[in-house]
Amino acid sequence: MSLNIAVVYHSGYGHTDAVAEKVAEGAASVDGVEVIIVKAGEITSPESPEFAKLDSADAMIFGSPTYMGSAAAAFKGFMEASSTRWMEQQWANKLAAGFTNSGSMNGDKQNTLVEFMTFAMQHSMIWVGLGQMPGNNHSEGSESDLNRCGASIGCMTQANVDQGGDVAPPDSDRQTAVAFGARVAEAAKRWGQ
Ligand SMILES: Cc1cc2nc3c(=O)[nH]c(=O)nc-3n(C[C@H](O)[C@H](O)[C@H](O)COP(=O)(O)O)c2cc1C
Repeated sequence: MSLNIAVVYHSGYGHTDAVAEKVAEGAASVDGVEVIIVKAGEITSPESPEFAKLDSADAMIFGSPTYMGSAAAAFKGFMEASSTRWMEQQWANKLAAGFTNSGSMNGDKQNTLVEFMTFAMQHSMIWVGLGQMPGNNHSEGSESDLNRCGASIGCMTQANVDQGGDVAPPDSDRQTAVAFGARVAEAAKRWGQ
């Protein structure tokens, strides 16, 4: 059995591109899983041909930088365009999960994940969280720990604003994203049984 997982995301300046790549890498590492990438910014209306890829996906992983304490406007455009799918509950019972990247360690990015989760619930999807213990929260912890942002409802990463997506976010966040992608793929396999 082959499962399709769509990573649907936006990145304005390349940091979230780097995270999306790692989420996709993790999901694709699971046997029998195929990953497709969908650029949320290309979906501007319910008639967008990109929707066909999402309609046939078994799971969707949403991703956006946190801009002004919420998902980027380009991602919101996709969310609103999906309202025709919502009307028919076309995505009901598909798995959903989310990731976000911001400049500050906190940066209010919890709000972005809550937006994603609410969006998924409106579509009657099944939410999958990060599934990792918080890192860097004790005397022997470090910035190299997985889940150094201490997230639970989704994957959080932090990228220094003066560095490009080639180096920021750091490797610990990238590996957090790989493990997150693999978790969603494993969950999709179990859910599909
Ligand atoms: C319009 C705008 C709003 C932003 N708002 C926040 C914010 O609320 N919190 C934060 O920590 N960083 C904020 N940032 C920084 C971005 O989250 C950060 O640079 C991120 O890495 C950008 O991701 P991208 O390269 O995928 O676009 C903002 C950046 C922009 C351009």
